[in-house]
Amino acid sequence: MSNQTVLVLDFGGQYKELIARRVREANVFSYILSGDTPVEKIKEYNPIGIILTGGPSSVYADGAPSCKRDLFEIGVPILGICYGMQLMCHKLGGDVREGEVSEYGQTICNIEPCNKLFAGLDRIQTVLMSHTDRIFGLPEGFEAMAATNDCPLAAFGNEKAGLYGLQFHPEVIHTKNGKQIIRNFLYNICGATGDYNMTDYIERQVAEIREKVGDKRVLLALSGGVDSSVCAAFLSKALPNRVVCIFVDHGFMRLDEGDQIEEIFSKRELKFIRVDASERFLTKLKGVSDPETKRKIIGSEFIKVFEEQAKQLGDIEFLAQGTIYPDIIESGNDKAATIKSHHNVGGLPAIMNFEGIVEPIRGLFKDEVRAVGKQLGLPSYLINRQPFPGPGLAIRIIGEISKEKCDMLREADAIVREELGKLRNKPNQYFAVLTNVRSVGVMGDGRTYDYTVVVRAVKTDDFMTAEFMRVPYKTLERISRRITNEVDGINRIVYDITDKPPSTVEWE
Ligand code: XMP
Repeated sequence: MSNQTVLVLDFGGQYKELIARRVREANVFSYILSGDTPVEKIKEYNPIGIILTGGPSSVYADGAPSCKRDLFEIGVPILGICYGMQLMCHKLGGDVREGEVSEYGQTICNIEPCNKLFAGLDRIQTVLMSHTDRIFGLPEGFEAMAATNDCPLAAFGNEKAGLYGLQFHPEVIHTKNGKQIIRNFLYNICGATGDYNMTDYIERQVAEIREKVGDKRVLLALSGGVDSSVCAAFLSKALPNRVVCIFVDHGFMRLDEGDQIEEIFSKRELKFIRVDASERFLTKLKGVSDPETKRKIIGSEFIKVFEEQAKQLGDIEFLAQGTIYPDIIESGNDKAATIKSHHNVGGLPAIMNFEGIVEPIRGLFKDEVRAVGKQLGLPSYLINRQPFPGPGLAIRIIGEISKEKCDMLREADAIVREELGKLRNKPNQYFAVLTNVRSVGVMGDGRTYDYTVVVRAVKTDDFMTAEFMRVPYKTLERISRRITNEVDGINRIVYDITDKPPSTVEWE
């Protein structure tokens, strides 16, 4: 039994993931393929509809991403967005050229609502435009369906053939009724039944895992992050008491985090092994201050500890991984991310002989992983955790690491997270960094010479770019007072007011 599927054909647009997610939010399964995927291969997916993404090129330029004309003749409804619309137009004999003006940003669009794509919408719509080329002449059989001041052909369609194009981007929130337009395409045009939801996904995956693993056992490296945690919960449901989770505690977790992970997973129907390797990691990192070297040491030590533990367990036939769909899309390979690099450190032991790999959340976007985690009964503080780098606090301590510095940062960081977590408008990521700068201060009658902590808080959609958060002074003041009063060894707090770029979110 498989879901109805809508394929998203990628022509290099930055929004392919967003389009695929919008489709899934409308309860229709979506899958991203490269724009040049042969038509025969496309047919194998038996799609109910196809969406062509935007892209930065001009359809008439040499080497521009393209598709075969036959794509438009397979009898499956197609929606072209921006470049996708222009490509459809170009391939079907219409006229695409550079416009006199480029349109960037939100604009008012007059639509013709008497068609399946815009059914139920008002004539005046706010949409997001981002283009220079535009359509000057329609292909045969197509009708104009929308116009803006600078773009007389802002949408078109050939209802009989089920082919539609939008010059604007329905997938972004700046297009006010974009979701409705996508729904219309799915339900009015492709005949979607809305058969994709998380409950079914869980059931199907559980059945698949049981079928694949039989009565054998599965090993999972559990970091306590969202992905590996949901993976563990999945496996304990599918294969009660036949899953072994190794949690390598490197000692760079946040305050109480290791205990929380143990508390959650030791209650589940799986074997949970916590390895306290903190001494070992600290010894390896002694005298090391270069960020990249720190990351490498932590990565390779992690693998060694994991391997040693796994060996003691004897033969375990399957390895589970918390690979998620964006990992696969980012690796540019829709076949398989062979091994998800754990903690971004280059993968788990290839020398261990596993019969197979189990990846229960491989098809899911992050928000879907969270929804599944919730349904599987994981606590919301775990599911909604902020991103946390694999090397943990080790890369939030600038320069050399020591146990004392880890403890200091853990306490300061807990205060930062507690106070910023109270804001109604929360940053997307917020934490403390311990610098290796010491400065003079006064406390009571005495002089201090203590460390400086940085408060970092950013707003971001995708972590590729970020803005520093305009945190109220009151909150900053409370954070500063609390850290200097409650944490020994810190006498100065500063706030990081740089965006990404030019900075990164993390300091190392
Ligand atoms: P940067 O510092 O590159 O961070 O702006 C962007 C996002 O990635 C997270 N990050 C990591 N996540 N392993 C991870 O799993 C890492 O080594 C790592 N380094 C950075 C960072 O917290 C931010 O959310």
